[in-house]
Amino acid sequence: MDRYQRMELDFEHLEEQQEYLVRMKGLLAARLGVPLAAVHSYGCQGNAADTERIKGLLAQMGYRFTDDLDRADLILYNTCAVRENAEDRVFGNVGALKKRKEQKPDLLIVLCGCMTQQPAVAEKIKKSYPYVDLVLGAGAYHLLPKLLYDRLTGGKRSFTLLDESPLVVENQPVSRDGGCKAWLPIMYGCDNFCSYCIVPYVRGRERSRTPAHVAEEARRLLDEGVKDITLLGQNVNSYGKGLEGAPTFAGLLEELNSLPGEFRIRFMTSHPKDCTRELIDTIARCDKVCKHLHLPLQSGSNRVLREMNRRYTAEQYLELVDYARETIPGLSLTSDIIVGFPGETREEFEETLGMIERVGYTSLFTFLYSRRSGTRAAQMEDPVPQEEKSRWLRELLAVQEPIGMGVHQAQVGETLPILADGLGKTGEGMLCGRTDTNIIVEFPGSPQLIGQFVMVRITQARNWALLGERI
Ligand code: SAH
Ligand code: SF4
Ligand code: F3S
Repeated sequence: MDRYQRMELDFEHLEEQQEYLVRMKGLLAARLGVPLAAVHSYGCQGNAADTERIKGLLAQMGYRFTDDLDRADLILYNTCAVRENAEDRVFGNVGALKKRKEQKPDLLIVLCGCMTQQPAVAEKIKKSYPYVDLVLGAGAYHLLPKLLYDRLTGGKRSFTLLDESPLVVENQPVSRDGGCKAWLPIMYGCDNFCSYCIVPYVRGRERSRTPAHVAEEARRLLDEGVKDITLLGQNVNSYGKGLEGAPTFAGLLEELNSLPGEFRIRFMTSHPKDCTRELIDTIARCDKVCKHLHLPLQSGSNRVLREMNRRYTAEQYLELVDYARETIPGLSLTSDIIVGFPGETREEFEETLGMIERVGYTSLFTFLYSRRSGTRAAQMEDPVPQEEKSRWLRELLAVQEPIGMGVHQAQVGETLPILADGLGKTGEGMLCGRTDTNIIVEFPGSPQLIGQFVMVRITQARNWALLGERI
């Protein structure tokens, strides 16, 4: 038995949703002709994938998309709560919508996602942002057609937040932005409750899509010409928990790897505590799975890791890394690091530096600790001044820079298959793509090559990318 409610919108719910999609389409066409929506996604790839589903619904209502807020009839922000600066940016941008609403009273303003799932934030929007029409928590997106319809036909502004977002909603339309690359969510929510992190509170309990639904979506993407699929979950290594037949992430990778065609599979994020040797063996064996592990360390100090509730030690992490390096030749490792966790000492920070030097990451995502109210760490004493933490962060970046550059330089002279996925940034006539190990590569080529694998010889390393030439 599933531990949560599985909602496949294929029966009455889907019918009801369809009904409102059709009603909305008629209403919008009559009022606006071609309605325009400006949709912006903050935060992680999981949010980006949700946004593609929200846009899928909007597209079925007849909306076309624009980046020009002046022309938009609907402005929707899918928000992120992971750090304070993410929230500040959203509040800033929502504040700026007040004027627009005054000038254009028919403008619809919708706030979705993680931020709105926090009671205090929902309250603040209620009180201080009266011009926001709809608030829709993460996991309630399938209700958007009805909620929009109700609002447009004279209903009050509404707040729809799900207590534990207990749903897995299938059979939803998707409007993708990624061209030959696609996000593919395999699970939602998180059960880990790392002590600094808001995600489990705003995203609800961990729940997986069935392997059949994932494989079906992968097949559809491949039929559409997608050649680079990134599987998404907060902790993909615990995929399948609670599902019938106890499928595993390794098994899912194997199944997707066996689909026909030339394509790549990437995935994130791997939690070290659930990263098994079986999974590493599977990555090594599967030719379409990229040789890249994003394995967030967060801290190199065992005391801090314990306080973070990460449930691994630095030694266990290193053992895993050593096994992965032995088993997967050419493996690239990347990580997330938090600097300045409450009570972290200078010595403990130095242990993190030691780990960074020992592991040799290709690149790092580094964050200054941000207090999230409601989390356990928010109650902890936090004596180190912000300025000191910022100094530590700069020091850490200075340690990582030559390490990353070394990894990049080691690629010079290699010839690699690269999926050309867009125009390059380094100049006219350049294309870009990513290596199997997730490093950006730029090379000269005609835009017609976008969407194809080409062989590229790496000629130069920069700290943010590789440069190469087609052969
Ligand atoms: N599920 C993923 C991470 C999702 S959040 C994992 O466990 O690895 C992405 C990153 O944001 C985290 O890895 C962490 O480094 C950072 N992060 C999360 N909460 C934070 C906070 N309160 N302050 C600073 N960084 C935080
Ligand atoms: Fe947050 Fe930890 Fe869950 Fe990642 S595993 S989303 S850091 S609680
Ligand atoms: Fe942010 Fe929510 Fe993702 S808090 S990082 S958008 S899961």
